[in-house]
Amino acid sequence: MHKYSEKVMDHFMNPRNAGDLPDADAKGVEGNPVCGDMMEIAIKVEDDRIVDIRFKTFGCGSAIAVSSMITEMAKGKTLDEALKISKEMVANELGGLPPNKMHCSNLGSKALQKAIEQYRAKKEGRVLEEAPQSA
Ligand code: FES
Repeated sequence: MHKYSEKVMDHFMNPRNAGDLPDADAKGVEGNPVCGDMMEIAIKVEDDRIVDIRFKTFGCGSAIAVSSMITEMAKGKTLDEALKISKEMVANELGGLPPNKMHCSNLGSKALQKAIEQYRAKKEGRVLEEAPQSA
């Protein structure tokens, strides 16, 4: 049986940035088809930087710890920097995850990537709408 690191237990017992972000600019949701767990990450962006972030996770303890850790890692980063956060980086920051729990880490990076993609798509939509049409 694998033992969880102290950091995993800390983030599981005292999750950071959990809950709603009412003025979020974008949200990303990722589900795990194997276990059925779900994670939502909401971001607030200013000048291409994540200034606020929250998560809501219906999932196992590792998924909660991953959510908490990835929100801490992403806050303050530019969108390009945040896109580079991989499941391995999150697992490393947590002091490691048991091999059969690495898929839980995947939820975090995927949900964050989807939130960033949604933000960029919305932004591009607005720019296109506001751009003067040439006849
Ligand atoms: Fe489903 Fe961890 S077991 S996310």
